[in-house]
Amino acid sequence: MCGIVGFTGTERAAPVLLEGLKRLEYRGYDSAGLAVINDNGIETARASGRLENLCALTDNGEKISGVCGIGHTRWATHGAPTELNAHPHVSNDGRFAVVHNGIIENYAALREELTKKGYSFSSDTDTEVVAHLLEMYFNGDLKKTVMKTVARLEGSYALGIVCSEFPDTLVAVRCASPLIIGVGAGAEYFASDVTALICHTRSVIYLEDGEFALMKPDSLTVYDPAGREIQKKASHIDWSVEAAEKGGYEHFMLKEIMEQPNALRAAIEPRLKGDGVVFDGLDLSDEWLREMTGVVITACGSAYHAGCVGRDLIESLCRVPVRVEVASELRYRDPIIDAHTLVIIISQSGETADTIAALNECKRRGAKTVGIVNVVDSTIAKSADSVLYTWAGPEIAVATTKGYTTQVAVLTMLAVYMADKLGRIDENRCAELVRGIASLPERCQRAIDMNGRIERLARKYKDNASLFFIGRNLDYAVCLEASLKLKEISYIHSEAYAAGELKHGTIALIEEGRLVIALACRKELYEKTAGNIREVKARGARVLGVAVEGDRRMLTEADDVIFVPRADPLLMPIPETVPLQLFAYYVAKANGCDVDKPKNLAKSVTVE
Ligand code: G6P
Repeated sequence: MCGIVGFTGTERAAPVLLEGLKRLEYRGYDSAGLAVINDNGIETARASGRLENLCALTDNGEKISGVCGIGHTRWATHGAPTELNAHPHVSNDGRFAVVHNGIIENYAALREELTKKGYSFSSDTDTEVVAHLLEMYFNGDLKKTVMKTVARLEGSYALGIVCSEFPDTLVAVRCASPLIIGVGAGAEYFASDVTALICHTRSVIYLEDGEFALMKPDSLTVYDPAGREIQKKASHIDWSVEAAEKGGYEHFMLKEIMEQPNALRAAIEPRLKGDGVVFDGLDLSDEWLREMTGVVITACGSAYHAGCVGRDLIESLCRVPVRVEVASELRYRDPIIDAHTLVIIISQSGETADTIAALNECKRRGAKTVGIVNVVDSTIAKSADSVLYTWAGPEIAVATTKGYTTQVAVLTMLAVYMADKLGRIDENRCAELVRGIASLPERCQRAIDMNGRIERLARKYKDNASLFFIGRNLDYAVCLEASLKLKEISYIHSEAYAAGELKHGTIALIEEGRLVIALACRKELYEKTAGNIREVKARGARVLGVAVEGDRRMLTEADDVIFVPRADPLLMPIPETVPLQLFAYYVAKANGCDVDKPKNLAKSVTVE
């Protein structure tokens, strides 16, 4: 999704902006640009495609003088990913340049109004209306001009603005799209996320919806939506620069897969006390839980798949009905959610627009809301009634790995916690599960240790144009994520099927040589899944089995087997997922795909 950076200081701005944009590349984009104020007024440079194109165009920023500017990576929504549509957009009089993340929903009406008034448009974007509105309202007072402009905008946006009349001033505006200010020494920055800031400063200010800021190298003023000056406390970021960098790995995705044992430790260890689970800050009284009639889990993408695991665990342990819903669907249905519903919202970034909208809808219906979120102080973290952080650290690769497994870990602990509070689990079982959860980081490490074998299997199976993942119950939930991972980064078509359902649907697509990855880690369903393996083999499929270590029988059922570390049956999803993340990674790498930045995908989808 679009990335924004801004800088005002004493050194040349363009290289600083390009450096910031590089750190935001992981969000996904298809063009980039920057605008800097110098003796020529506002100088812009824009290029479609990768950031290297913009670097080449500007000689890594050295061609552009000036110490105050804004930059942008664009993920196309309104208009094709061309140079003309790339940000920044400049007003007709050349006075203002704007970068924008989000969507201006009333842009068509504004464009018509501005066109009638004689403003000419050079792009198809919704953003360009902002540049022309700024010109139209400009009266010499930058703050008032910005306020008048913003008052006309509907939708979600983070804006970065420069004006040639104020050559050292940056304007940052936030409305429902993240924008963070970095406070430096003799320099100020803004960016759409902290990864672009931490190499310059650890002191950041999170703007709230409607707030805006005027920034100069040695001063920063934040205003509320009514234009009153407000005092904001800076937060300290303790993520290390290395944590946000590759640390010797070829790709962020591989680094993040390898980091999972530690990420799981961070998510799990502080929450296990004796034979039980504790959650600081979780607002769920025993009384409220007893009156709870059901649980709804809502999320997008991989977080939704984590929710599918969560559903089986909570139903199994707590014996309460659980629904999992894709957030973009839930928000437009008329779901049965009331004050006795617990809604669990899952989001790595905490900024996914559909998930935020679903959360707001659930709150409107009076539900109790708990967020499972990675990014501290993100929108979902702040709006849910309680937040359980996954503490996975920064996740840069577009395809989530440690973000997902830590979500599953937190959901597992939440299921045990609620079952205990509801009195639906006996002490021994609770203690057994707690011990099992404590051992997940180590089991995850053992799964990672199979790296070499998985790479060999990936090379063997890399040429499949289409494949199936099959499994039952929790294995099926894992199939959904494993299949998405492979599709996202290798562009190989794959479908996850409940193993028993394949024969009711697309078994006709199973033909000679078709790869089927069969997950058979559920003892109680083993015979059933083995039967499904035989069904596809009878039709010519090649089967890669995923089975619990020691399962020698799978060697006779499947052509190849990935053995995963044994855990309690309810705790298998994490040990099962990790080898399949590695499989997806090595298949994509072997096929020469851009693993960390898969085409058309964005890390954090902040538009509907
Ligand atoms: C995007 C990403 C997915 C991610 C989903 C939800 O679509 O490409 O990998 O799972 O958003 O993101 P969230 O930050 O809410 O977990």
